This record gives sequence, C-alpha cells and structure tokens, in this order.
Amino acid sequence: MAGNWKMYKTPAETKAFFETLLPLVAQSTHADMAICPPFVDIAAAVEAAAGSRVAVGGQNCEYRKEGAYTGEISAPMLKAAGCSCVIIGHSERRQYYGETDATVLLKTKAALESGLQAIVCVGELLADREAGKTNDVLTTQFDGGIAGLTPEEFAKIVIAYEPVWAIGTGKVATPEIAEDAHKVIRGLVAGKFGADAADKVRILYGGSVKPNNVKGLMEQPDIDGALVGGAALEAVSFSQLVNF
Ligand code: 13P
Repeated sequence: MAGNWKMYKTPAETKAFFETLLPLVAQSTHADMAICPPFVDIAAAVEAAAGSRVAVGGQNCEYRKEGAYTGEISAPMLKAAGCSCVIIGHSERRQYYGETDATVLLKTKAALESGLQAIVCVGELLADREAGKTNDVLTTQFDGGIAGLTPEEFAKIVIAYEPVWAIGTGKVATPEIAEDAHKVIRGLVAGKFGADAADKVRILYGGSVKPNNVKGLMEQPDIDGALVGGAALEAVSFSQLVNF
C-alpha cells in the first residue's frame, strides 16, 4: 500500500502525519507500506518512520547520477537520503513534464542500479478508453518502458496501473474494469518475462482509491495493492486503506 503525496505537505506536517500513522499500523504486517512525500520532506519522513515498517520513497528521479541538471534529484541521492523506493513515470510526470516510455525505462534502470525499488506507472487517458484503445496503450507503455528491463531488473519492480481518468477525479475504476486492465498487464509480463515473473510481480491499482472502495478492488485476483493520492494525505485514512 503506497501513498503518493504529490505536491502536498511541509516537513512539520510530515512529522505529524507519521506520529498519528505509526501506532495505527504497528500491527499491520500483512502489507508492505510506503509513503512518497515531496523531496524536501524525505528527511523528516525517514526520521519519523525509523524503526517502523513504513518505507519512504521518492516521486520521481533523474536518470543521470549527477551533473549540471538544475532542479533534478538523482536515484543515488534518494537512496542516500534513506528512500527505499521511487515512483517512476506517473501520469502527471508524463502529462506535465514530458516523460516518455523511453525516459521511464532509463529512470527505472537508474533506480534499480541505486538499490531502490521502482514503482513503474502505466495507464490510459479517458480518450484512449473511449476509443477502445486501453489495451493498445498499456501494450505500448509496457513495450517501450518495462519490456526493456532484464529479467533480473524486472524482478525488482512493482507496476502501478493508474487510469488517468480516475486520478483525483473521484471516479474510481470499478473493480471489474481495474481487474481487466491488471489481467492485460499480467499477460504482457507473462509474454515477455514468463509465467513465474507474471505470477510474482505486484500490480497496484491507483485512481481515487478510498477507504470505502478499497476492499472491492483488493478482492480482485490480479490487484495486489494500491497507489493512493488524496486518501494517503491523512494518517487515519491511509491506515484504513492499509487495514482494509
Ligand atoms: P488519487 O488517489 O488522488 O486519485 O491519486 C492517485 C494517484 O495518482 C496516485 O499516484
């Protein structure tokens, strides 16, 4: 269960979040948990989460290690700051910051090389879905990004299916719609990396996941967890997702 805070919260707010969250998930050993705050909150999150099962992750990284790239943060920097994972290729990065399947692949490799787990995002736009192109889009994103990993690299990633029309809109995909897409993605994995890899890879659903709809989603056989925006900003709500 992963929270993507996007561009919300200060270090002080981060500290307060963890103070409330940790007792609520102290017994929650059934799920891996991660919070991905803005870069400037990572130090506060790492300090606050120390000794707990809640991992801290970045929301993006540059694929080069260091250099004259103003405003960028590299994967080794995230690792050194105490992160254990990083979100790669979120639709907001693709939409507003020009990320492509090619940069997703570079960033995923950079993250893995630095010892970070990569949470690699795919998902279609509303127009794609309405045009009946959901599977084509997922296939293109998979082929252009994830399929370029070696089997060893692939074994270390988590995939997040985030239909863009469901993100921040309150329009959650029905469990059946999400399950269909997850099945397509698992099929793509099987085709490229084999049945065992397809069986093992964790595929998270993201897009308007809330405490009142998480259970139906998690009951689907191919949905292994969630990548959550809005409902991960509040500690009680995030704990309810973890403990659904
Ligand atoms: P919401 O849960 O706010 O729809 O955001 C989903 C998301 O983009 C998580 O990465």
